[in-house]
Amino acid sequence: MLLLGIETSCDETALCLLDHTKVRGHVLFSQDHSASGGVIPTVAAREHLTTLPLLFTRLLKEANLSLKEIQGIGVTRGPGLAGCLLVGVLFAQGLALSLQKPLWAIHHLEAHILVARKEEATLSFPYLALLLSGGHCLIAIVHGVEKYTLLGQTYDDAAGECLDKVARALGGPYPGGPYVEERALRGDPYAVPLPIPLIKEKTCHFSFSGLKTASVRWIANNAPLSSQDKDNVCASLQRVMTESIERRLEYALDQTGLKQCVMVGGVASSSYFRQSFLSLCHKKGVEGFFPPPSSCTDNGIMVAWACYEHLSAGITPSYDFSIAPYWPLDHYHSSL
Ligand code: KG4
Ligand code: ZN
Repeated sequence: MLLLGIETSCDETALCLLDHTKVRGHVLFSQDHSASGGVIPTVAAREHLTTLPLLFTRLLKEANLSLKEIQGIGVTRGPGLAGCLLVGVLFAQGLALSLQKPLWAIHHLEAHILVARKEEATLSFPYLALLLSGGHCLIAIVHGVEKYTLLGQTYDDAAGECLDKVARALGGPYPGGPYVEERALRGDPYAVPLPIPLIKEKTCHFSFSGLKTASVRWIANNAPLSSQDKDNVCASLQRVMTESIERRLEYALDQTGLKQCVMVGGVASSSYFRQSFLSLCHKKGVEGFFPPPSSCTDNGIMVAWACYEHLSAGITPSYDFSIAPYWPLDHYHSSL
C-alpha cells in the first residue's frame, strides 16, 4: 500500500512516499534560520506554505508516481508550531478528501520513536525509547502504537536546545548539534569544568538549562576564545550531557527490566551520542537500536512509517481533527 507522509511541525518541510518498508520517494527542505539564531514561527509557517505544494509536485515526479496511486496519507498533527502544523494538516485534509483516501493524524514524537522499527524487524513492543530532539527530551515505555508510559522528560530545555544555544554563543550556525559534534572531535572533554545535570537524582527526568547557562557563562567569562577553547567547550559539553543522559537511561532500564531500547530524535544522529548509548546498552546487556542518522532529524519517512504502523495496528483513520501544538505523549487520546 502506497502511503504519503507529510511533516511540517517545525522548520523542515518533508514528504515521503512509502510502500511498506520501501521508500519510493522522499523530499526534504530545511529552512535556514541561522540569521535569526532560531526558528521564528510565523516565518517558518509562511515558508511551509510556499514550499509544500512545490515539494509535493517534485516528489511525485521523482518517484514517477501519479496522484491516484496514493492509497493513504499520514500528517503530523502535533506537537509543534501551530502555524506550521496548520499548513501540513490543511494540505493533507484537502488532499485526502479530494482523493477519497484514508487519513491518519500522526504524533511527531511517536513518528520519531516508531521509525526505528522500519529497519529493525526484531525491535518489538514493549521497548524503551530515549528521545533527544531540539524541542523534546524524554524516556518512555513503548507498549504499542498510540500506547506510551512516560517515565520522565526535561524540566526545562531539551538536549538539542542546549547544544543549539551553546553553539550560538560560540558563533556557530543553527542548528548547533553538528557544529558541536565536529568541534568536539579536536577538544579535551575534561578541559572545561561543567556541572553534570541532576547528578544525584535517581529519576528519568532531565534538565539542561543549568548546563546551558554554565557553558554560556564560561564562554563569556573567558572571551575571546581560541579555536582550541571552543573545541574544549564542545567536547566537555558533550561528555557532561551524555553522562547525565546515561544515568537516566540506566535508571529507566533498571526500573523497567526492558531488554530492547532505542535512541531517536535529532541528537541521536550524533556519532558521539550513538557511541555512548551503545556502550551503555552493552554494559546493561540490552539490545540498543537507532534509526539511520537521516531518519533521526525531522523527515518525511518517519511520518509515512508511523502512518503504516497505524494502518497495520488497525487504527481507524479520520478526516476530522485539528492541530495539536501541545500534545503530551502520555495523554495521547485526551487532546483528540
Ligand atoms: O528531531 P529534530 O530534527 O527536530 C525536533 O523535533 O526538535 O532535532 C533537532 C535537534 C537540533 O537541536 C539539532 O542541533 C540536533 O537535533 N542535532 C544534533 C545533530 N544533528 C542535529 N545534535 C547533535 N549532533 C548532531 N549531529
Ligand atoms: Zn522532531
